[in-house]
Amino acid sequence: MSKKYNVAVVGATGAVGHEMVNMLTSRKFPINELRLFASARSLGKKMKAVGKQIQVEELNKENVSKLKGKVDVALFSAGGSISKEYAKLFTEQGIFVIDNSSAWRMDPEVPLVVPEVNSHALNANSKLIANPNCSTIQMVVVLAPLHKVSRIKRIIVSTYQSTSGAGGRAMQQLYDESKAVINNLSKFDSVIDVTPVDYKLKEGVVNRVLPYQIAYNLIPQIDMFTENLYTKEEMKMVNETRKILEDSQIQVSATCVRVPILRAHSETVWIELEKKISLQEVNRLLSGAPGVTVVDDPLNKKYPMPVDCANEQMTYVGRIREDISSSGNGLTMWIVSDNLLKGAALNAVEIAEALIKKQVI
Ligand code: A2P
Repeated sequence: MSKKYNVAVVGATGAVGHEMVNMLTSRKFPINELRLFASARSLGKKMKAVGKQIQVEELNKENVSKLKGKVDVALFSAGGSISKEYAKLFTEQGIFVIDNSSAWRMDPEVPLVVPEVNSHALNANSKLIANPNCSTIQMVVVLAPLHKVSRIKRIIVSTYQSTSGAGGRAMQQLYDESKAVINNLSKFDSVIDVTPVDYKLKEGVVNRVLPYQIAYNLIPQIDMFTENLYTKEEMKMVNETRKILEDSQIQVSATCVRVPILRAHSETVWIELEKKISLQEVNRLLSGAPGVTVVDDPLNKKYPMPVDCANEQMTYVGRIREDISSSGNGLTMWIVSDNLLKGAALNAVEIAEALIKKQVI
């Protein structure tokens, strides 16, 4: 009989944690025992996973100190400060940790892995493995096969990121605000009479976790601003892309925007290649790329959209065209993927699957 593993999910009750549990279940990960951890707030909760009802346990140092030999691999998605505090407590007990937060991603000792791109970075010595930023994952899955054929010199990317990227409470904010706005608008006979005053909610109407109203709005800020006036999220796309593609020379400029969508991030991605690849060749390369589905038939209005890509495991690319503003080596495209799946939970589970395949665990 093939080996089965003891797995823990830390942050199991959150938006990504839920999907980690779903992915472990639906992909039939070889599980012996599944342990679910969250904060004391979730004590008493039960979650359906791997065909059972599993009681959520409190994450605390005492509970963690008893995990030696009882857990093989732990998937973390409870935020950066929990990862900083707990990841090493797990690895010190011989447990492989796959961490979805940004806490360890740029640590030179920690592999930052998208299995389709750089599973060679996994090895038995690095027990702590980082799952990259959601927007970076979907971008590099598509760009890596092109980069192999002709070096990418420069990337300009704008993201359209769904609320689930900021967690379950941000999804709730969008839902509650949408209801409140629709309620305000319901008094109008014609939508033409609606003015911004009618859909701009006063502060305090809905519990906010995002910095501003997100329903009927766009927020051009994800994470905090840094000294160079890019946000941390934007700098993650710069630094993580370089680390995953193992090319410190790639120039990346990102603008990350939160949009009123529940699931799936979209991106316009412009790249400048060292030497030209024909559109036909780009299509051939991407059609054969692992984890990528090309949906690109503009004349028949076929392109990826978040409503179609939510809850799907692939990364979708369309609107692929030569950039008319550059000298011939520029390409531009539209990439969409479910940020909770390939952007987080699925990639983490795929890393665990890669550890098994490489006989590291
Ligand atoms: P809880 O539901 O008990 O608060 P999201 O990213 O959707 O906001 O979810 C965050 C996840 O991280 C949840 O599972 C949440 O658990 C968990 N979490 C937050 N704070 C802690 C903490 N101090 N200890 C353990 N888990 C935590």
